[in-house]
Amino acid sequence: MINKERVSKRLSELGEIGKNQETGGLTRHAFTKEDRLAKDLVAKYMKEAGLTVREDAVGNMIGRREGRNPQAPVVLTGSHIDTVCDGGKYDGSLGIIGALEVLQTFNEQGIETEHPIEVYAFNDEEGSRFSFSMFGSRGVIGDLKRKDLEMKDKNGITVAEAMKAQGFDPERISEADRSREAIKAFIELHIEQGKVLESHNLSVGIVSGIVNELWIKCTVQGEAGHAGATPMSMRHDALVAAAEMVQVVDREAKKTGTTVATVGRLSVLPGGINIIPGTVQFTLDLRDTSQEISDRVEAQIFKEFDRVCQERGVTLSTELLQRIPPAPCTEEFRQVAQKACPEAGVPYFSLPSGAGHDAMQMINICPIGMIFVRSKDGISHNPLEYSTLEDCADGINVLYHILLDIAVKA
Ligand code: GLV
Ligand code: MN
Ligand code: MN
Repeated sequence: MINKERVSKRLSELGEIGKNQETGGLTRHAFTKEDRLAKDLVAKYMKEAGLTVREDAVGNMIGRREGRNPQAPVVLTGSHIDTVCDGGKYDGSLGIIGALEVLQTFNEQGIETEHPIEVYAFNDEEGSRFSFSMFGSRGVIGDLKRKDLEMKDKNGITVAEAMKAQGFDPERISEADRSREAIKAFIELHIEQGKVLESHNLSVGIVSGIVNELWIKCTVQGEAGHAGATPMSMRHDALVAAAEMVQVVDREAKKTGTTVATVGRLSVLPGGINIIPGTVQFTLDLRDTSQEISDRVEAQIFKEFDRVCQERGVTLSTELLQRIPPAPCTEEFRQVAQKACPEAGVPYFSLPSGAGHDAMQMINICPIGMIFVRSKDGISHNPLEYSTLEDCADGINVLYHILLDIAVKA
């Protein structure tokens, strides 16, 4: 039905943009040369799929297939075009290439839909450059604020500056905002990035809901000093304190059985071999399907951080980067998926998403649904990320039947 070879070719081609030849991983951050090249390639695929192409004011690339009724609310699909540092070629890309494949197949089969369908290649879902994720989808729901444009990358370049350098006008971000009435639903195809489907020997799963996402930047202030001349009893070593805090994060998250928490970034200042670390900055990423449990773990972690500060004579300051609530997938979508899975030749199986997705923003303006494709060994955010072409095709076929169901009916 769908053209697997075309999917494979496009995934490979897109997977060359931003590739590190040594690791094989991709680094495609927002408002960079690589991001531009990737979006231009996707625009070419969109045209090949017979879509009308436009790029919005926040850098989302959009392809539209007209419906019988152009005024009917539009069904949105797609995923993100950016990657983490040294990431894989399926995270995000599969949802864009898969959605384009469905629409190109509709055209080849002469299928008409009542509702227009648009494929979004969302800009900056990962938040890897500016420590602020889902920029493109926040633009679509009209939730970008002036202060968000002041977030800086590691070279001190703000979002606004990066936008200008790529020819975007930060003053016009509100133009990306879509009206609620104009959107029927958002359906995203994505790799699972975990091992649940593999452990059940299934190629595809239907997402029940997405966990919350809390990102906090922590700065531990100790006292820099001479590594040779300062006795151990007279130190306020910020790194030793931070190391204990990292242990706290791990310990507290493990207590619930459902929470996941990660310190993924840590920097030591001044960073001299013979200097006691004076300042350490690290990030905390905390998630759970239950907001209540997440809140409880967060409170416990910071209580423990206070204890570490007391014991080690250091201080802690924090900056909230983002707090996104959990996003349950719509019941109506799950019913459609229950029918679509057997039509696509796969059993219906439901699972939660531990990873964050643009759907978490889109839920603010429309019903959402997500389809997962099995990830080999559950590996993702890693150059080894892999899903077989057969599994990808199963996921795309499920998307095909879901879009048929949602978009065809008046
Ligand atoms: C994105 O992949 C995230 O879950 O952070
Ligand atoms: Mn990702
Ligand atoms: Mn992703």
